[in-house]
Amino acid sequence: MKITCILGSPVRQGNTDTMVRALLDGVKKERAGTVDWFVLNDLVFRGCQACDGCKETPTSPCVEADDMLAVHGSLRTADLLVVASPLYMDGVTAPVKGFMDRLNAFFGADWTPRLPGLRTVLLYSQGMDDEHAYDDVFGLMERVYGKFGLQVVRRVVLADASGHDVAGQSAELSAQLDTLGRELARES
Ligand SMILES: Cc1cc2nc3c(=O)[nH]c(=O)nc-3n(C[C@H](O)[C@H](O)[C@H](O)COP(=O)(O)O)c2cc1C
Repeated sequence: MKITCILGSPVRQGNTDTMVRALLDGVKKERAGTVDWFVLNDLVFRGCQACDGCKETPTSPCVEADDMLAVHGSLRTADLLVVASPLYMDGVTAPVKGFMDRLNAFFGADWTPRLPGLRTVLLYSQGMDDEHAYDDVFGLMERVYGKFGLQVVRRVVLADASGHDVAGQSAELSAQLDTLGRELARES
């Protein structure tokens, strides 16, 4: 099983980082595999330049030669995509938005999705205590991911997490994510 993980927080071992690791622990209990782990904050990449190079033929890749190309390569062979983001200013973090814009390379000129059926899990952490406070944001993200063919199979939201160690201190969340990881491994 090949998993592409996108970490959208600048904080290592913070909530979203911890959530991804708990999920991967569950996966590993069921299936062997490889994980491509991308900390967006450590990558150097530009936003989409709207050059339409990726639309020239049905398989044209993104022509922007930066660190995002490794992410694109990983996505092409992935069985599962995990995207984890804290909520920043009522949305995903800027690097995650940048990653999403660069996914422009994953639909063609005729809108044909180039990652059809890639199972995707979205993990969020937020300071707000109401776990439904950002349902509209999450819905919008899922609409965007759908343009590329991504099939969002699960969404997990950690609410009331103003400190960065909230996920690490929640045995309940870790168990939930471990179970989720096992389920995802069995389903693939
Ligand atoms: C710049 C910034 C903006 C934030 N904006 C929001 C927000 O709009 N809503 C919210 O609920 N939490 C907000 N937060 C809190 C984070 O989402 C929260 O602390 C999250 O758990 C951090 O996850 P991490 O430990 O993975 O970085 C913000 C934090 C920062 C630093």
